[in-house]
Amino acid sequence: MAKKLFVRTYGCQMNVYDSARMADVLAPLGYAQADAPDGADMVILNTCHIREKASEKTFSELGRLNLLKQERRAAGGDLTIAVAGCVAQAEGAEILARAPYVDIVVGPQSYHRLPELIARAARAGGQVLATDFPAEPKFDHLPEDGAAPGPQAFLSVQEGCDKFCTFCVVPYTRGAEYSRPVAAIVAEADRLARQGALEITLLGQNVNAFHGEGPDGRAWGLGRLIRRIAEIDGIERLRYTTSHPADLDEALIEAHRDVARLMPFLHLPVQSGSDRILAAMNRRHTAADYLRSIDRLRRARPDIALSSDFIVGFPGETEAEFAATLDLAERVGFAQAYSFKYSPRPGTPAASMEDRVSEEEKAERLERLREVLERHRLAFNRRSVGRTVDVLVERSGRKPGQLIGRTPYLQAIHFDGPARLIGRILSVEVDSAHGISLGGHAALAAEAAA
Ligand code: 5AD
Ligand code: SF4
Repeated sequence: MAKKLFVRTYGCQMNVYDSARMADVLAPLGYAQADAPDGADMVILNTCHIREKASEKTFSELGRLNLLKQERRAAGGDLTIAVAGCVAQAEGAEILARAPYVDIVVGPQSYHRLPELIARAARAGGQVLATDFPAEPKFDHLPEDGAAPGPQAFLSVQEGCDKFCTFCVVPYTRGAEYSRPVAAIVAEADRLARQGALEITLLGQNVNAFHGEGPDGRAWGLGRLIRRIAEIDGIERLRYTTSHPADLDEALIEAHRDVARLMPFLHLPVQSGSDRILAAMNRRHTAADYLRSIDRLRRARPDIALSSDFIVGFPGETEAEFAATLDLAERVGFAQAYSFKYSPRPGTPAASMEDRVSEEEKAERLERLREVLERHRLAFNRRSVGRTVDVLVERSGRKPGQLIGRTPYLQAIHFDGPARLIGRILSVEVDSAHGISLGGHAALAAEAAA
């Protein structure tokens, strides 16, 4: 009988991608994926360290899994518990000490070793820890034939980060920047296309720092990689995330100009509109540099829409500096954005900076920033009304007969149609705009019926 594997994923799309790869690595061992921990033989928590209280949440989830494990053992079975992801990387030893029922702690660089780690844990009947940064990159060891991805697929092209923004744990949990070779990426994209993917999102913590070795032996940038992947038959849509403003080069901007399949939407985190705060964050660009990049992008691709990340209440942020962030948000007019209160991550330089902004002040600034961001998002969504947009149909909606898909701008849109349209790209006319989604109807009856 097949063993059951349940993977719970927290955090970014890189983790979603890694969770799928872990399932691929374990499939040859007879593990089939389950959609809940009850009844599973193995549970992996793929954790995220970027949010506040990440490790506390991990420990409380582990406590619940331990109860399940004890029940299972009382009934003569067992449950293998593994912790993966960035909390595993950052706090591996502490997890093993505080949660002795955890069998395996595995960092993001060691997922290809899961079969060996499971065997070791079973043999030793004890805990195993794999959180070192090996010399060879993990991508070389992951299986080539993964499970079918569905119409929307992720492809990891780059991992780690050398930017060392002073608030961020990623350079410590994911390690140094590493780009996969172009040939390996193209082979994976070919496979995804053959398996039916219509849209590929190229992933990396700092994806536009990509500089993978090309077939010509030279380092290729992300712009060149995008042009190559856009040639693959069947790949109708390309995206990439997450980018750093300082790594947005001319070749990438030209790709936005020339490659029709590259969606006119870019997530480009700015974090702050104040030059002093940007410098304290070690962001390596000014507000003016950012605005100039946006201008160049808009000249290259006039219909491009922008998304961003913001942090309010970074240590020492004054009211005037926060006002510069509001001003930048007004000027760019983001189609959507994420905003966070600064919170210290142990071990990062900002965590030991003086002059903390009070929690009340942070909350108040967050609210004011969100008012601006929401207003622009709604205005952006409203401008879609009356237009006909290409929608990649992803799934059925909550109401019977309803479908949900994504526009080129990643807006969720719901409309009526039969479930067999899932996995296709359709023309949909937008009828209404809400805070976070659009409503519409399939524009071409003939196409919908085909
Ligand atoms: N505090 C608040 N927000 C943070 N982010 C990363 N680290 C922190 C932190 N210490 C946010 C940044 C980043 C996004 C993924 O999470 O805005 O772009
Ligand atoms: Fe973190 Fe992004 Fe800065 Fe890298 S570029 S340190 S991942 S915020």
